[in-house]
Amino acid sequence: MPLGKRINSSGINQPLQSNEKISEKINTSANDKETSFTLFQAEKPQYSFEDIILNRDTYDAIQDVLVLYEKRELLFDKWGLGNTQKKQNRAGINLYGYPGTGKSMVAHAIANQLGRNILAVDYSQIESKYVGETSKNLVSMFDYAKESNSIIFFDEADALLSRRVTNMSNSTDVSVNQTRSVLLVLINDFDDLILFASNFISNYDPAFIRRILAHVKFDLPDEENRLKLWRMHIPQQMPTDVDIKTLAEKYNGVSGADISNAVFNASLRAARLSEDKVCHIYFEEAIERIIQSKADNDNLGTLTSKRVVSEEYVKSQFGGRLPK
Ligand SMILES: Nc1ncnc2c1ncn2[C@@H]1O[C@H](COP(=O)(O)OP(=O)(O)OP(=O)(O)O)[C@@H](O)[C@H]1O
Ligand SMILES: [Mg+2]
Repeated sequence: MPLGKRINSSGINQPLQSNEKISEKINTSANDKETSFTLFQAEKPQYSFEDIILNRDTYDAIQDVLVLYEKRELLFDKWGLGNTQKKQNRAGINLYGYPGTGKSMVAHAIANQLGRNILAVDYSQIESKYVGETSKNLVSMFDYAKESNSIIFFDEADALLSRRVTNMSNSTDVSVNQTRSVLLVLINDFDDLILFASNFISNYDPAFIRRILAHVKFDLPDEENRLKLWRMHIPQQMPTDVDIKTLAEKYNGVSGADISNAVFNASLRAARLSEDKVCHIYFEEAIERIIQSKADNDNLGTLTSKRVVSEEYVKSQFGGRLPK
């Protein structure tokens, strides 16, 4: 049975074919040329918490929120929170921190744990492609999430969560502000869990801060977790003389994504050279290249959407403390 419907720009609902992805296609016409892009798409979660290596604090902070959905009766009825609090499903979790540390994976794992689908929305895409068509399509997105039993996940949500522009200088600013304001209303009225992923945001919009029950920080893995990540990402059947203890000890400041990429790159090198195993040195060379390219990128001061600000700055936004 299809889990959702495709809604085209004429507003006609068409049932999905059985093997079709559940997707919402938005058609836009510019200069008489019809272009179509998939803006959002509900899917079955691809990961569970077993697939993810997390710090205890990060894991606990997430599980604390999920209890709201798993132990409602205990909380609201038995413990009487229903008398003092609104018996709501409404909560937001902001997964924030370093790139490549598992934030998107965790969004899937949360949906998986709650037995829901996930509707991942790339917010940066909304702002670049969607401005001007806002309200109607945003409303249909929230309807679609309900219909497809999905948890909405705003990925790359830095701009959404940031303070809105107050002195608007041009029509794009006005449009972007409208998009965010419409979304704010929709998010506030939506009685369900909503997930956000962001990097370090320097200037949160207070309206969103109120909606978010937990800000969960994703740090780079420590040595113990690096060891687990190397172990996890090197397939058991791979012929190799790799010494993961050395890799974990020697190379810090790397993310899970860096480790995954290094394993892949090392394997490519060994395959190209027709080696009978993936030698330890290839892993070292691969992770060193990744570390070097990240350093080069930082040095160039490349302006990307992944703006990282210091912890001090984040603290200053939260009255001297890091958000839990
Ligand atoms: N904590 C982790 N445990 C296991 N694998 C990880 C972890 N973090 C990253 N990875 C690996 O890196 C890949 C990218 O992770 P993911 O997309 O979840 O990171 P992210 O924090 O969302 O990054 P970005 O900020 O760039 O969006 C994963 O598919 C996985 O292979
Ligand atoms: Mg991500």
